[in-house]
Amino acid sequence: MAKTQLAVIVLAAGMGTRMKSGLPKVMHPLAGRPMVSHLMDTISGLNPDKVVVVVGPGMDQVAAAVAPAETVVQHERLGTGHAVMQARAALEHFTGDVLVLYGDTPLITRDTLQKMLEERRSAKNPAVVVLGFKPEDPGHYGRLVVGAEGFKAIVEWKDATDDQREIPLCNSGVLAMDGARLWGLAERITNTNAKGEYYLTDLVALARYDGAACSFVLGEAEELLGINSRVELASAEAIVQRRLRIDAMENGATLIDPATVWFAWDTKLGRDVVVWPHVVFGPGVTVGDGVQIKGFCHFEQCEIENDADVGPYARLRPGAHIGPKAHIGNFVEIKKARIEEGAKVNHLTYIGDARIGAGANVGAGTITCNYDGYTKSFTDIGQNAFIGSNTSLVAPVKIGDGAVIGAGSVITKEVGAGALAVARASQMELPAWADRFRDRKRAEKAKK
Ligand code: UD1
Ligand code: MG
Repeated sequence: MAKTQLAVIVLAAGMGTRMKSGLPKVMHPLAGRPMVSHLMDTISGLNPDKVVVVVGPGMDQVAAAVAPAETVVQHERLGTGHAVMQARAALEHFTGDVLVLYGDTPLITRDTLQKMLEERRSAKNPAVVVLGFKPEDPGHYGRLVVGAEGFKAIVEWKDATDDQREIPLCNSGVLAMDGARLWGLAERITNTNAKGEYYLTDLVALARYDGAACSFVLGEAEELLGINSRVELASAEAIVQRRLRIDAMENGATLIDPATVWFAWDTKLGRDVVVWPHVVFGPGVTVGDGVQIKGFCHFEQCEIENDADVGPYARLRPGAHIGPKAHIGNFVEIKKARIEEGAKVNHLTYIGDARIGAGANVGAGTITCNYDGYTKSFTDIGQNAFIGSNTSLVAPVKIGDGAVIGAGSVITKEVGAGALAVARASQMELPAWADRFRDRKRAEKAKK
């Protein structure tokens, strides 16, 4: 049997006024990427044949975030039924199944969507399948009205009778439809209701009126959290973080205190990675096997290879590449630099635009002076070089393999392989000067 085709319509035209933001609501991030991108990822797991996203006027950012999915603009926000109608031209001859999702409900899982599609393709052949749920506080959600003869209608809270408002079964908004029947039903939706809007939820009563079956699937309240405010955004972030922590542990990382570790959606951890408390992974971080990450580190767009040891209090910025068995210690900041195998940068150091060769040792307080206010320049440190503490490396500069730099140096010129370079004022000594100084001071004080 040929696979039933699948189209997905995502409603994202809402302005999200309660976010009080210049950013369209669906662009607010969860785990470092827009909430709508989480949803698009879940959708792509279903291998749909077509995805249409309904956006508001001027939401170019949303269109870019959901590409290559097609976007259509709903110029006036006349309700969810009207929003779906905007996708009609894009899906005119589509007769497969159609899923309708909300851009601000991004935590829904692929399993739940699969269940809806299974129900839709079941022998009952329901015209509409609704995803219902029983939230702790049913508040102003639409209610599913189920009578002796089955699922009859969805009533919006504003239109519901007191009895209907007592129904605990709520509408999540997610629908699976028979595409062959969608437009014929949707064009009959009117706006004669309490809100004066075209309610998508009227599809159920319309289908029943035509004698078609409708059914519902029960979903988890946590997956169906809709994000309308920054408080709800924080609740959703907590859910996403919990999922990411569980994934990390199930894939072989130890999180000593999971609740204090923050992941990005794309964080990749190898096996036997140990993450101590209070570590933040920004987007684009890859960690190899056997890496130790001690507390209070902050990483973004960087790579840490196998068996490296990082932190506590290390900051790895974009382009930091930590080689195998390298050590990065406390209060070390690294940006756009390769630290090669087994090199050590252990204390109070800034390394930017640089290569630190294998086995090199960078002493406490070393700084690569990579920026002159106009351009960034490169520092190249050879393998097994030894950089004494508190050295300033004024880039562009090259330190040869195995060279030694005396502590406190300001290095401005290339240092040859195997050489010693010291660039600081030479030490002088005045014997007995300190004793004479103190005697004089004491004598002055006694006279007063
Ligand atoms: C809707 C449902 C309600 C359900 C609730 C779940 C209707 C009539 N009601 O109500 O039964 O319990 O969701 O959260 O559908 N949108 C557009 N264009 C519009 C209107 C809305 O794109 O003209 C989008 C919004 O951006 C949002 C989604 O559709 O992503 C839902 O709209 P919203 O106004 O929040 O619907 P509710 O009143 O919450
Ligand atoms: Mg809503």
